[in-house]
Amino acid sequence: MHINTEIAPKAFVAERNGEIALAFNLLEEAQEIVRHKTHDYFFDDAGNIKLTEKAIFEWLADRAIDEYKVGYQVGYLLNQCGHLMEPWLVGALGKQVEDESRHYRLLCNILPQSLQTQVRYRMSSFPTLISKDARWRTMVPVITNRDYVASLFELSLVFEGFASAALQVVASLPIRKIQRVYQVILRDEQAHFGVGKKFVLRTCQTSESAHSVLLVAQEAVNRANNCSSYDW
Ligand SMILES: [Fe+2]
Ligand SMILES: [Fe+2]
Repeated sequence: MHINTEIAPKAFVAERNGEIALAFNLLEEAQEIVRHKTHDYFFDDAGNIKLTEKAIFEWLADRAIDEYKVGYQVGYLLNQCGHLMEPWLVGALGKQVEDESRHYRLLCNILPQSLQTQVRYRMSSFPTLISKDARWRTMVPVITNRDYVASLFELSLVFEGFASAALQVVASLPIRKIQRVYQVILRDEQAHFGVGKKFVLRTCQTSESAHSVLLVAQEAVNRANNCSSYDW
C-alpha cells in the first residue's frame, strides 16, 4: 500500500477529513462488536461469570503468549521498515515492544504455577509457535515487502483497537489480581491504538490515502462480526 504524503489541495481536505472521521467511527463500531463478544464469552445474560477460575487463568495463559507475539511482531516491523518511518513512530513502536514484553511478564506472574510451567514450555519453541500463527503468516510478506503502512493499519489500528476493546471487559472480571494487571495493560493497549490513529492523522494527507483507511475500517467491522470472542 502506497501512501502519498504530499500536502493535498484545499478542495480535498474536507473530503479527506470526512473519510478519516468515518473510518474512526467504523473502528469504534468494530470495537463495540468485539466488546460485546468478549462480554458474552465471560458473562451470562444475568451478568454472572460463566467460566471457572481455572478456565479463566487458562485463557490468560494464551493471552500471555499473545503479548509476547505482538512484541515480536512489532519488533520485526521495526527491523524491516524502521528506516522508512518518521522518528516519532520509531520511538512509539520501540516503546510498544517494551510494553508487550512487560505485559507478558505481568500475566505470567499471576498465573498458577502449573500454567507458568506450561507457558515456559510452549515458549521454549517460540520460532515454531510464531511460524504457525495464521495471522502472522499473512503479515510476514507484507512487512518484508516494506509495506509498513498496511502493516501498521493491521497491527496498530485493527489489532490494538480490538485488543483494547476486549481487554476492557477482561479488566472488569471480579478477580483482584486480574483487575490489577489489566489496569496497566489496558492503559498501554489504548496508547498503542492511539499510535495507529496518530499515524493516520499525520500520514494520510490525500483523499486517496484516507480512502484506504476507510477500507481497512470497513474490513475491521466485517472481521469483528465474523470472529469468535478472541480470534481475530
Ligand atoms: Fe499488550
Ligand atoms: Fe499492545
